[in-house]
Amino acid sequence: MCGIVGYVGEKEATPVLINSLKKLEYRGYDSSGIAVINSAWNEDSSDEAIIVRKCKGAIKFLEEKIEAELVKGAINGKVGIAHTRWATHGEPSDLNAHPHTDVSGTIAVVHNGIIENYGELKAWLQSRGVVFKSQTDTEVIAHLLNYFYTQGAEGVRSENTRGDIFASVHAARQKLVGSYALGVICKDFPDRLICVRKESPLIIGLGQNENFIASDVPAVLEYTREVYFLEQDEMAVLYNDHVDLFNAYAEKVVRQPFHVDWDISSAEKGGYAHFMLKEIHEQPKALHDTLKAHLVTEKSASGGKEGKPVALSFSDEINDADFKKMIQNAKRIVITACGTAYHAGVVGKYAFEKFARLPTNVDVASEFRYRDPILDKDDVFIVVSQSGETADTLAALRLAKSRGAKIIAITNCVGSTVSRESDYVIYTLAGPEIAVASTKAYTTQLMCLYMLALCFGSERGVLSRAEFERLLTELESISDKAQNILDNKTEIQKFASKQFNKSKIFYIGRQFDSANSLESAMKLKEDSYMHCEAFAAGELKHGPIALVDKDTLVIAIATEPSLYEKLASNIIEVKSRGAATMVITSDTSGAFDSCCDSVIQIPSGESALESMLSVIPAQLFAYYCSVLRGNDPDKPRNLAKSVTVE
Ligand code: F6R
Repeated sequence: MCGIVGYVGEKEATPVLINSLKKLEYRGYDSSGIAVINSAWNEDSSDEAIIVRKCKGAIKFLEEKIEAELVKGAINGKVGIAHTRWATHGEPSDLNAHPHTDVSGTIAVVHNGIIENYGELKAWLQSRGVVFKSQTDTEVIAHLLNYFYTQGAEGVRSENTRGDIFASVHAARQKLVGSYALGVICKDFPDRLICVRKESPLIIGLGQNENFIASDVPAVLEYTREVYFLEQDEMAVLYNDHVDLFNAYAEKVVRQPFHVDWDISSAEKGGYAHFMLKEIHEQPKALHDTLKAHLVTEKSASGGKEGKPVALSFSDEINDADFKKMIQNAKRIVITACGTAYHAGVVGKYAFEKFARLPTNVDVASEFRYRDPILDKDDVFIVVSQSGETADTLAALRLAKSRGAKIIAITNCVGSTVSRESDYVIYTLAGPEIAVASTKAYTTQLMCLYMLALCFGSERGVLSRAEFERLLTELESISDKAQNILDNKTEIQKFASKQFNKSKIFYIGRQFDSANSLESAMKLKEDSYMHCEAFAAGELKHGPIALVDKDTLVIAIATEPSLYEKLASNIIEVKSRGAATMVITSDTSGAFDSCCDSVIQIPSGESALESMLSVIPAQLFAYYCSVLRGNDPDKPRNLAKSVTVE
């Protein structure tokens, strides 16, 4: 997730762009940049036609970098684009920051989204002599545009792209696979700004003798409340006095602008009351993006549509031959992390043992580092960390490295210390997580762990080709199933409104569900401050059942049909002692109807994978209880988002 803004109008563009960009910092903040068409430029001058300034770090560093030039009037231009980045391809750096330009500096581009076929396009452009400067997927767009603009387009519907920037953008977008919102400027058209979107959001703000583009409404609210929400595959050309909208076929469309009457803070949250709720709702996309980055599909014979998934590839981040050798030699998996990421590791243990038949240890990083752990060079050590900066996790990583283990990192932050110090990195493409309580980072961490476990299982011959492909197809369905749960969230809200005053809550489950119970309980503790514990359901009678009485709520997670009966017996035991009961289950046969006060249905499938979906109702339950108890779900007391000290 990144933030883009663009301006065309009568004012100087740079201060407006910087001001608007700051409203989008919640979308990404590892680097930023601007590009403006230089008003002083002409064919005979030696000045840059498009002035580009970029900087690693928060927007304030970019401001500091350009301050002196701005005072001197050295960055003057009335048309420009700007970007705040959350890295997905290439570490955060000045070079990888957007905007990106073609080799001649004629065209500049900002991009939000992921170009899935960028490797293919890069090779195509390199074979035509194009030299790349950055490691980003976005740079291919700048070069592709310039290629079409100077050489003409091949094999796309807009033939006359030479010298026509609009036609070049229209032609280029037909070559791009993935998600994108693009802002494009061209030195030969100093009166306009072009934009197009697919999957990634983009809005157009309509002002008086000025117009704007932005990834989100808050960026323009200071200037205008009249906006167009650009629809899927639409393009637009903005001039200072009007905006032309076009459909996917480059035909003009006309519609009325939308009047925004929300305040700035609710607009930043995309209309959700809190970032936590927004991030819970972002999970279908985050899960889709994280899997899509590695899923190899067979193109179906008809129409070149994506076919069934056949493999997983980590070759963007990883040298395949070395990685495969490590998989073959692996004797044991050791997973280490803290908090929510540790809970993901517990699910990972079940996954590696089930799908790859490899012994797996999972450890809390703060314990591991002081335990003088037994490690071998054939141990594969997996660290899981959203921030990539957690002190205990880093210490565990360094210890494992010093003992010769190979390190795989699963992290959400490109360029983080964990990513730099590991042998291999798999990224969760969750985008920035603002709410302190982790939600979308957890489920995308699970997606990465499942992908790795299946990859190990397939490479080591534990999973047959048919079984591997079946499981990949199941993984592919997870994102839609997550959406289905979110579409039916009112049941959970109703349940929360009846139970938010309970004094003791227990989550129980078996196998994968027991692992996911840990995270479900953590969410409730952090956000509602209700006392909550998670137990393997079979452990209840070995102690915890002594706590159960009429003030207790027991929430069971049940996604494995062969264990329904056993779990139902556990629920009956607590119900007979006065507890209120709820089950989160994929069962549709009514197995829990008689013993549970409430049944939350989640979609069914391969239970070892679908179990991860059970955490979504639990996240929602925690969120609603938090709000009902008058807490701030985005900022739970005593907690920090990133724990960089011991
Ligand atoms: C809880 C939560 C924390 C983190 C933990 C590790 O919602 O977010 O438990 O999971 O502090 O943080 P990372 O993943 O950044 O290493």
